[in-house]
Amino acid sequence: MKQREHFGSRFAVIAALAGSAVGLGNIWRFPYILGQYGGAAFIIVYIIAGLVLALPIFFAESIIGRNARSDTFGAMSKLAPGTPWRWAGLLTVITPLLLLGYYSVVGGWSVQYLFKSLSFSFTDIPAEVIPSLFSRFITSPWQPILAHTAFMAMVTAIVLGGVKQGIEKFSKVAMPTLFVLILVIMAYSLTLPGSFRGIEYLVKPDFSRLTPGAYAAALGQAFFSLSLGVGTILTYASYIKKEENLLVSGMGTAVSDLLFALIAACAVMPAVFAAGLQPGDGPGLVFETLPFIFHKMGQGMPIVSTLISIVFFVTILAAALTSAISMLEVGVTFLADEKKMPRRRATLLLSILCWVLGILCSLSFGTLSHVKILGFTFFDALDTLCSVWLMPLGGLVFTLFVGWKMSKPAVRDEFTNGGTVNVRLFGVVYFLMRFVAPVGILVVFATNLLM
Ligand code: ALA
Repeated sequence: MKQREHFGSRFAVIAALAGSAVGLGNIWRFPYILGQYGGAAFIIVYIIAGLVLALPIFFAESIIGRNARSDTFGAMSKLAPGTPWRWAGLLTVITPLLLLGYYSVVGGWSVQYLFKSLSFSFTDIPAEVIPSLFSRFITSPWQPILAHTAFMAMVTAIVLGGVKQGIEKFSKVAMPTLFVLILVIMAYSLTLPGSFRGIEYLVKPDFSRLTPGAYAAALGQAFFSLSLGVGTILTYASYIKKEENLLVSGMGTAVSDLLFALIAACAVMPAVFAAGLQPGDGPGLVFETLPFIFHKMGQGMPIVSTLISIVFFVTILAAALTSAISMLEVGVTFLADEKKMPRRRATLLLSILCWVLGILCSLSFGTLSHVKILGFTFFDALDTLCSVWLMPLGGLVFTLFVGWKMSKPAVRDEFTNGGTVNVRLFGVVYFLMRFVAPVGILVVFATNLLM
């Protein structure tokens, strides 16, 4: 039988896990969600939700994945044979494909904006016109589809390379580079006139903005950002060696993810204020604001603004790619493990599926904007379905499975590497996985239903 691949080192594990976590969620989504719910106060709720709800689910997924050494469906079938748990496992094979369906559209936007930066398109026009380019671009029929196709082609190529040659190699180079790039952008953004207002927004809490919706949004963002409930962490954990410390890789991933989101907010918010735009402007925030700012700052020196713009969009694209490959990998591992389908065929098949979904999502900003599902456009429907319902539901399944279905000694053995590490902390983590995380998710579900 063919040996299951493994990540080669601890650094490779954290790079791949952090690669899955750090993505559009940090650079594109976090700043505008934060903007909609009042800045600093939201950050506090987000950090608490991350620590007590999201992190335990991260550990639950890692424990199942490494213990079973299988895809999500196979893991549930192996650890709870003949029970309906495997159907819950199957749900988490489907969710990441739906997620990738619309994620790849935003990934395509970054491809397009990188292309525009490379071809000096932003510096050829007056700065004031730049924010309006975004809505013109996303409502046009062909350009976003071409960009989405280019993005999906890159994702497919990396996943075709396999775990060690594709995912591990790419993540080990991309993740450190990403940190350096986002720090450069932040340093630049902080030099903008008026940037202090952005920083003030990020550090001075306004608790009156914390509506019930803010708590649900914080949990949804924590799930989105850590790629939870979609089987990616479980699948990657199935490639982690038995000697690795799951607490260290989990904490390393969560800290990198949070740091990255905060740095991205420090890069984006000062620019938003300096541009005189509104922090709650929505999904277009990053694409409307930053090229405008880069253009303004490089007045008379298009090469400067173009270079900064290129650095920024390369950063977004690389971050989006490392996350997108993890979403595709879940389904590929499922087909390879369960259906014995060659990786190559599985990758191509699922890529085509996501590509088609992405086309519908892309068109939902223009040609298909009148087509609504329960009042949502196709893109919004998929986003709401995944981030508000399916991701927390997947997380709930994993945490219930570890907390209530697996035996406590098996969970302890996996988390403590047979009693050699993290022994003292196990009790706290187990309590969070068994009680706090499931109750927290159910409360958020109830709030969502009642709102
Ligand atoms: N965790 C991924 C991101 O934040 C989905 O982009």
